[in-house]
Amino acid sequence: MSSNNANIIDGKAFSNHLIETLIPDIKTISNIIGRPPTLAVILVGEDSASQVYVRNKIRQTEAAGMISIEHRLSADTDEKTLLAQVKALNDDDKIDGILVQLPLPKHINEHSVIQAINPEKDVDGFHVVNAGKLATGLAGLVPCTPLGCVLLLRETLGDLSGFNAVIIGRSNIVGKPLGQLLLAENASVTIVHSRTKNIEDLTSQADILIAAIGRPEMVKSSWIKKGACVIDVGINRIPAPEKGVGKFRLVGDVDFAQACLVADSITPVPGGVGPMTISCLLRNTVLAAAQRKGVEIGFK
Ligand code: GUN
Repeated sequence: MSSNNANIIDGKAFSNHLIETLIPDIKTISNIIGRPPTLAVILVGEDSASQVYVRNKIRQTEAAGMISIEHRLSADTDEKTLLAQVKALNDDDKIDGILVQLPLPKHINEHSVIQAINPEKDVDGFHVVNAGKLATGLAGLVPCTPLGCVLLLRETLGDLSGFNAVIIGRSNIVGKPLGQLLLAENASVTIVHSRTKNIEDLTSQADILIAAIGRPEMVKSSWIKKGACVIDVGINRIPAPEKGVGKFRLVGDVDFAQACLVADSITPVPGGVGPMTISCLLRNTVLAAAQRKGVEIGFK
């Protein structure tokens, strides 16, 4: 008999709850500065996944009572034009947060564009100033997906102190900042990646296992310790012929059916980490507005 009994962590519900907690702060800021916190989103090109993400980010920002301004640039936009757009938003006092959706077209240097954003408006937390603050324990803007993972973990496990956390993936967007955040929570952190030898030996000791590799269903039950908490950051589109010709479905980096047999709790895809990324973006936009304008709010 299988024991398909892992607790499914409801990222959507927790994300909605987090957004509710932001509403009083959004009202306070609006009353004091005479306008709601405002997010500018730049989307370059026609990548279909990016279009969906940006649409969701804008819809939820506005649903929470904030302003969002979208700047759509064609795929052949040159780097100079994009940098000029970023500078205009830096200089615009009515803009609190700037998000440049990644990936950018190949002819644009992503690093140069991210470093051009005023760190105080860097709601993605990707600027080296914010990365450095996170690494050294100073308050700054923290990348949204790792922050969402930690909030879900705290909600599920409580105090994370002393847990053995293993992160699969070492990206600047997820793996590395998540390692810093979990260290700040007093977890023991191991980051494994494509060059790690005997990856399963390390992952199968994890109390907390986080998959952020971008490979559909790569993490099998043998990678997972019995009773672990599994956070699946992956969002992969794979063919779903059972839904019809040319149809797709979304899966994570974890083989969900297998993982449910061994994990104590697990995030689903969709409905796990994805919604948390958006609510943390809203949180960062509120924080950026409050800090720029010197307004006291209920969190840091
Ligand atoms: N592309 C995939 N994830 C992200 C993200 O968190 N922020 C931005 N700007 N682009 C992304």
